[in-house]
Amino acid sequence: MDLLLRNAKVFTPAGPVECDVAVKDGKVTKVAGDLQEQASKVIDLTGKYVFPGLVDGHTHMEFPFMGTVTADDFFHGTRAAVAGGVTTIVDFITPPKGSSLLEAYKTWRSNADPKVISDYGLHMIVREATPATLEEIPTLIGQGVVSFKLFMAYKGELMLTDGEIYRLTKKISENGGVVGVHAENGEVIDELVGEYLRQGKVEPVYHSYTRPEELEVEATNRVATIGSVLGKGVKMYIVHTSTGESVDVMSSYRRKGYKFFNETTPHYLVLNVDALRRPDGHRFVCSPPYRSDEQRTKLWHRLGSGEIFTVGSDHCVYSDQQKRRFKDTVPPFNEIPNGVPGTETILPILFHFGVRKGLISPETMVAVTSYNSARLYGLFPRKGTFSIGSDADFAVLDPNLTVKITPDVLHSNIDYTIYDGVTVTGWNVMTIRRGEVVFQEGQVIGSKGSGSYVPGSNPTV
Ligand code: URP
Ligand code: ZN
Ligand code: ZN
Ligand code: ZN
Repeated sequence: MDLLLRNAKVFTPAGPVECDVAVKDGKVTKVAGDLQEQASKVIDLTGKYVFPGLVDGHTHMEFPFMGTVTADDFFHGTRAAVAGGVTTIVDFITPPKGSSLLEAYKTWRSNADPKVISDYGLHMIVREATPATLEEIPTLIGQGVVSFKLFMAYKGELMLTDGEIYRLTKKISENGGVVGVHAENGEVIDELVGEYLRQGKVEPVYHSYTRPEELEVEATNRVATIGSVLGKGVKMYIVHTSTGESVDVMSSYRRKGYKFFNETTPHYLVLNVDALRRPDGHRFVCSPPYRSDEQRTKLWHRLGSGEIFTVGSDHCVYSDQQKRRFKDTVPPFNEIPNGVPGTETILPILFHFGVRKGLISPETMVAVTSYNSARLYGLFPRKGTFSIGSDADFAVLDPNLTVKITPDVLHSNIDYTIYDGVTVTGWNVMTIRRGEVVFQEGQVIGSKGSGSYVPGSNPTV
């Protein structure tokens, strides 16, 4: 054996398993109460909580957006990921306008392969529904890109019309893919942005006024309706859901037999709109915006009940300078690149604010951070499950370690965090990716380029 984990308490969606775990060639090979195997490396995990390595299904490394490119490339971004117990990211290929999707896939592979520390899969953002892009979809699915993101907002940049969404959803579904949707009504948002700017209301908080909850719920209803017209074979999920009502829309379709789901992100669970009123509010601009505490409560409830299917980070990092567009003053809210960091803090935020406070069970936390995401993105059972033959990917949490979050304890390529000063109990202290320790004692030791591309196939939801 290459590795033996002794006295591991491994949390799974079905409950904790107290066991020894043997690993060979990167796979879990034996699990038993007490293993007598010889192994080159033995790690005693007494007192720790072991989770299947997180599958962060929502990251934007090297993402060209709003006139800039995100500050975390695949090296820095996956360095942050593994430090947080994330062993697989699923990143969004973002093809330039007019480009072939397959060419963009090749570009993303060549950007990522030499740099990644975690393993990774890829989603495809589709910004045009031309005959050429539609024709490429089956080939992409064959290359392991089985999930697609369609935008109902960011007019002029990524937004699609309802007709385009219909056409793409049809093509993706006919070929066995999954449709992810950014659900906000971009047409009305643009009207509101114009109104606020004309009144001189330009501070970051007006970002939230121009993207009210109703526009997320309306877009969710609309895209679910479009999907339902195409029948129950459609697999669709709303990315980065910020409202309980959007969850309720998808849940009501699910009760009728549709495979419709929601993802949320940690920042909607713990931050509210006041973040945008801070002196550094520009750093917090992302879409959808943070909501009220009442909405946070609704999201926690739906996460705890299993109605929210996955939690991804929407890791989309800009330096403070990028957020200010390299000016001394903060630009109008509509010019601030949208997105916030998050892959490294999924586990401590969910554990401290969710599990420790009794809002979600550890089993639910495992389901939404690895098991469900691996299934939805077609990475299961290689990823997202603690089973014989699956990749030996683990996050090892010290449930009693209290950490004050500051930029110094994190690994992104920026010098701030949206959780600065927040104290949490429960921190990832070791990450094992395919049987190799890639993070321990605060240090990322996995080498650049040691991560692998994991092609998706056959979403099992
Ligand atoms: O503000 C966000 N969410 N930025 C990243 C792009 C997206 O919409 O996911
Ligand atoms: Zn989005
Ligand atoms: Zn409920
Ligand atoms: Zn995103």
